[in-house]
Amino acid sequence: MTLRTQVGIIGAGPAGLMLAKLLQMAGIESIIIENRSREYCEARVRAGLIEQWARDCLIDIGLGERLKREGMYHEGIKLRFGDDARGGLHPISFTKLVGKGTTIYGQQEVVKDFNTALIASGVPILFEVEDASVHDLDSKKPKIKFRHDGQPQEIECDFIGGCDGFHGICRPSIPESALQLFDREYPFGWLGILSESPPPDHELIYSYTERGFALYTMRSPTVSRLYLQVDHDEDIDNWSDDRIWDELHRRLHGARKLEEGKIVQKGITPMRSFVTEPMQHGRLFLAGDSAHIVPPTGAKGMNLAFADVRVLARAIAAFYKSGATELLERYSETVLPRVWKAQRFSWWMTQLLHRFPHENAFDQRRQLAELDYVAGSVAASTTLAENYAGLPID
Ligand code: FAD
Ligand code: PHB
Repeated sequence: MTLRTQVGIIGAGPAGLMLAKLLQMAGIESIIIENRSREYCEARVRAGLIEQWARDCLIDIGLGERLKREGMYHEGIKLRFGDDARGGLHPISFTKLVGKGTTIYGQQEVVKDFNTALIASGVPILFEVEDASVHDLDSKKPKIKFRHDGQPQEIECDFIGGCDGFHGICRPSIPESALQLFDREYPFGWLGILSESPPPDHELIYSYTERGFALYTMRSPTVSRLYLQVDHDEDIDNWSDDRIWDELHRRLHGARKLEEGKIVQKGITPMRSFVTEPMQHGRLFLAGDSAHIVPPTGAKGMNLAFADVRVLARAIAAFYKSGATELLERYSETVLPRVWKAQRFSWWMTQLLHRFPHENAFDQRRQLAELDYVAGSVAASTTLAENYAGLPID
């Protein structure tokens, strides 16, 4: 069967869902295909931190009701290092420094809100598709082929949104010679748990210790999301619940009391930085993780996905309004400078806070000096605040 729409979107993650919503608001039709089930997408635990502009955007497009009720608005974060009288805790107030805050609201909650709104308003999301492939990218009628309910199907459209994440099929469908890839792998990953216990502080604590980095974040006042730096090839089976709690206690250095709870989810995420240039080929436009990956230390992944599709939706809307292709042609060059700034910030936070295998005592002293400088200098903490709470977006 052939379906016809204006924009065919592959992937129902933050990028694909936000793209469909923004297009709908501009009166443009789309169909989303997704290879996982709706239940799986809505249960997948990933990012949790929303920049100020992204919060405002979700509210503006009518998706802020639960976010405002259940999201936790934060004025800043706490850095923990060294061992002073405050347990090494150094608050950085974003609202004071740059007049912006951040919101903790789980990515799967964002996904649920989008699914509910899009499906209720008639935007088709086809879950559990198989064998998706893209065709005729250089023509004015690109196609997406896939199987749904065992049947071969095809979407004929004007544009394809490649929102299928890092392991998707869109980026590999572009000829290798047309892309430049920039990549850095880190020699560590994050072991993350979700625990039914209150977070140790009402704000996030980023802790630098001689044992490695730890992050104490949350999903609600009664659910903590806690991360530990581990080796990149670490096996989760080596980490019993007791070992995880012991390490989390040690890396908090007594700065706060850490309550233990039932661990309801645990996993290890490798860390890498990755950028594709350009982010388009013919009528295929990449957005979000399909085009770039950041290490989670800067909390930028979901926010960057939203930022890409804002630009893309605007370019597509300009095309349907007047036939103008200029914004579409300039999509990559419009989004990449901000993508690279987020890359730089995520790399900087990562190298500031983690222990590296080949570092020596000099590197550790340098890291401590930099942390001390960031925490103690208005200029340096403003730089952190400005990047963390979200660089300007127009
Ligand atoms: P995705 O969310 O990956 O969405 C892509 C969608 O496409 C998925 O639903 C996928 O199932 C679907 N798809 C893939 N292939 C196909 C196909 N062939 N056909 C159809 N559909 C397909 N960021 C943070 O800031 N903090 C974190 O703690 C954090 N933790 C993370 C943990 C993990 C395990 C991962 C993978 C990412 C994490 N991120 C984190 C990054 C953040 O979640 C992503 O940046 C964000 O999900 C990007 O959204 P996206 O829509 O571009 O991609
Ligand atoms: C999260 O809440 O999952 C989270 C927050 C900040 C980060 C990374 C992850 O830097």
